[in-house]
Amino acid sequence: MIDFDTWHIENTDCIDHMASLPENVFDFSVFSPPFPSLYAYSNEPGDIGNSEGINREGKLHLSFFYRQLARVIKPGRAICVHVMQIPRLKRSGEVGLHDFRGLNIRIGERAGLVYEYDWALRKNPQAQAIRTRSRELQFSGLESDRSKQRGTLLDYIIKFRVPGENAAPINAKGQVSRNDWIKWAEGCWTDIKETDTLNTKEAKAEDDTKHICPLQLGVIHRCVKLFSDPGEIVFSPFTGIGSEGYESIKLGRRFYGCEMKPEYFETAKRNLRKAESAGKESMSLFAEAV
Ligand SMILES: C[S@@+](CC[C@H](N)C(=O)[O-])C[C@H]1O[C@@H](n2cnc3c(N)ncnc32)[C@H](O)[C@@H]1O
Repeated sequence: MIDFDTWHIENTDCIDHMASLPENVFDFSVFSPPFPSLYAYSNEPGDIGNSEGINREGKLHLSFFYRQLARVIKPGRAICVHVMQIPRLKRSGEVGLHDFRGLNIRIGERAGLVYEYDWALRKNPQAQAIRTRSRELQFSGLESDRSKQRGTLLDYIIKFRVPGENAAPINAKGQVSRNDWIKWAEGCWTDIKETDTLNTKEAKAEDDTKHICPLQLGVIHRCVKLFSDPGEIVFSPFTGIGSEGYESIKLGRRFYGCEMKPEYFETAKRNLRKAESAGKESMSLFAEAV
């Protein structure tokens, strides 16, 4: 058991912190792991984003991570991991993609989790071509030599489940309608707005080289509604600016998180307080109406 009211976040390394928690404490987890050696969020050695190479130190970091995660989520419950495939660094002479999705699946399975599914999230090709300047997507590549052309890199939501029986079926009424399910059961979610995120501007630190890429609230909304019931605890080990917590609290869940970088941690606290007061406001409007 861990004791807190609506939410609690720790400004710390999630691997160490999970190791200090009792087992089977959280009902559901949704998060985006840092992509090793692509996004350096801080200069902390524990920041998974600073690992030397995806297939070396990054892999080791993720192995410790998944082992702890499998311990703290209740048996039979779900974990949703948001990932994308990562282009290899051209400046170090590499070509092609790193299979970050596959790496997470293999390491999650090795930690004992059951890999059950992944949803693909549609991305806009024009926007991605402009943002990433990928020649593989641009007309210049198309017109000079098509051998290297490829489509947009999609995001994926990998769904794992912790082995064992789920002691509390997730079946609260009014959470996911049949009409919702008709849409959400599609293997590719094409209707998620890429800009539907919390504001990242106020979270920047002076020495930031890369900035955080928050998860779309619409994606979190679906995962939280599907895989938890109101009052249950949602866990994000990589809280960032608090998107998973923000949406969970608005949906009447409790939230627990870890974030290493102080600037993101402070922004997350502000966002979680906002979600909490929005929740209280809607409760009092509800009370007035009845
Ligand atoms: C992809 S971002 C998460 C963004 C988050 N989903 C959001 O929408 O705000 C990954 C985060 O993990 C944090 N991080 C990296 N290594 C960590 C660790 N070992 N423990 C806790 N946080 C870590 C980074 O500082 C970064 O904020």
